[in-house]
Amino acid sequence: MPEPLPIEVQARPGQPLGMPPARFLREVWQQRPLLVRGAFAGIAAPLTPEDLAGLACEDAALSRLIVHDPAHDRWNVRTGPFDESVFASLPETHWTLLVQDVDKWDGDVAALLARFDFLPSWRIDDIMVSYAVDGGSVGAHVDQYDVFLIQGFGRRRWRIDDRADAPTAFRDDVELKLLREFTPTRDWLLEAGDLLYLPPGVPHHGIAYGACLTFSVGMRAPALGELVADFAASVAESLPESRRYGDAGIRPAQRAGEISGEVLEKIRLDMMTALAADSSFLRRWFGSFITRYRAANEAVPRSPRLTAAAFARGLAGGDGLVRNPWSRMAWTALPRGAAELHVAGEAHPCERGLAERLCKTPPLDAAEILAFDDAARALLLDLVNAGHLAIVRARRKR
Ligand code: SIN
Ligand code: CO
Repeated sequence: MPEPLPIEVQARPGQPLGMPPARFLREVWQQRPLLVRGAFAGIAAPLTPEDLAGLACEDAALSRLIVHDPAHDRWNVRTGPFDESVFASLPETHWTLLVQDVDKWDGDVAALLARFDFLPSWRIDDIMVSYAVDGGSVGAHVDQYDVFLIQGFGRRRWRIDDRADAPTAFRDDVELKLLREFTPTRDWLLEAGDLLYLPPGVPHHGIAYGACLTFSVGMRAPALGELVADFAASVAESLPESRRYGDAGIRPAQRAGEISGEVLEKIRLDMMTALAADSSFLRRWFGSFITRYRAANEAVPRSPRLTAAAFARGLAGGDGLVRNPWSRMAWTALPRGAAELHVAGEAHPCERGLAERLCKTPPLDAAEILAFDDAARALLLDLVNAGHLAIVRARRKR
C-alpha cells in the first residue's frame, strides 16, 4: 500500500508538486488541499508592486482595492481603473490591490502557466495578482474554482478549513462574499516559492505578513446549467422549423384541459432524441463553447488586411507570430490525424502539430512557421487578419 498523502509536501527536483502530476491528479486535484513547500523555489517575482499599480490604472484591466479596518471589521472595496494618486492616500497597513488576467498583460507572468501544462490549457482562466501590505487580506471566503496560490515575494499566512462539512454561508453586511463563520483547521505561513492548492469550496483566509505578492492561478469550470443552456441553444439552432410537436395515434381526450402522462412521455422522448447529439456535434459545440466561455475581451480584426504576399515577405524576413492572449484556443482530433482548431468560438481545419503549437504560449518563429505547409500558413494568415495572432517583427538590418 502506498503511504497516504500528507496535506503538506516538499517539492523535489523534477517534481515541483512534490509528486508526479499523475499522482497529483489522482489523489489531490478537485479533492483536497495541498501545500507544496518550494514548488516555485527561487521565484523571482516577474512583476513589481509598481507594475501592478500601473496596470490597475489602465482602463482595460480589472482591478480591486480592498481596505480593511480591523478595529471595526469594516471593509471598503473599490474597483479600478484607479488614479495614481489613490496609492499615496492608502493607510500603512491592511490593504490589498488585486488585478485579474495579469497573464494577458505580462508575458513573464504568463510564463508561470507552463508549470501547469499537465492540466488542459482551456481549463485555466487567468492569473490574478495581489499585492498586500502588512495585514492586507480579502477576508475569509470560498471560491467556486480550483486555485493554485503561489507566494511571489514576502510571506502570507494562510488558514483554511478542510473539513468536509465546513460552513459556507456568507455575511450579508459586506460587499465582499465573506464567510459568516470561519474555523480554521490548518494554519501555515507561506514563504516565497511556496504553493497552496485549493479545490473549489474550501474556506480560506490569507493575511499578508509584511508586504507580499501572491499569484492566484484560477481555473474555469462552467456551471452545468451554462453547459446545458448553451448546448440546447446550439441543438435548437440545428433543428428545422418543420420538426414540431406531433401526436399521431393519440387516444381521445378524456377530460377537458388535461395534459396526459402519455403526451408528457412523448415530449420527453422527442426532446431526448433531439439532444442526444452525435459525437461530432458535441465535439464541435464544446470546442466552440469553451473557447468563447468567459472571454473578457474580443479580438479586433486587422485593418487593413494583411495580404498573402506581405505575410510571405514578412516570414522571409524573419517575422514571427504571437497569440492574442485574449483569444482562447483549443483543438479536437478528427480521424486520420486531422484536427479542428477552435478559436474564440470558430472552428478551422488544422493539422494537429500546428493546433497543438498554437495552444502553447511562446511566440512562433519564422523558421517554425515556414516548416508548415501552405494550408497551415493560409490558416495562420486568416488568424492574423481576424486579430487572433499578431506579427512579431524581426529586427531587420537597415
Ligand atoms: C489574495 O491573493 O489575496 C486572495 C486570493 C484568494 O483568496 O483566492
Ligand atoms: Co480565494
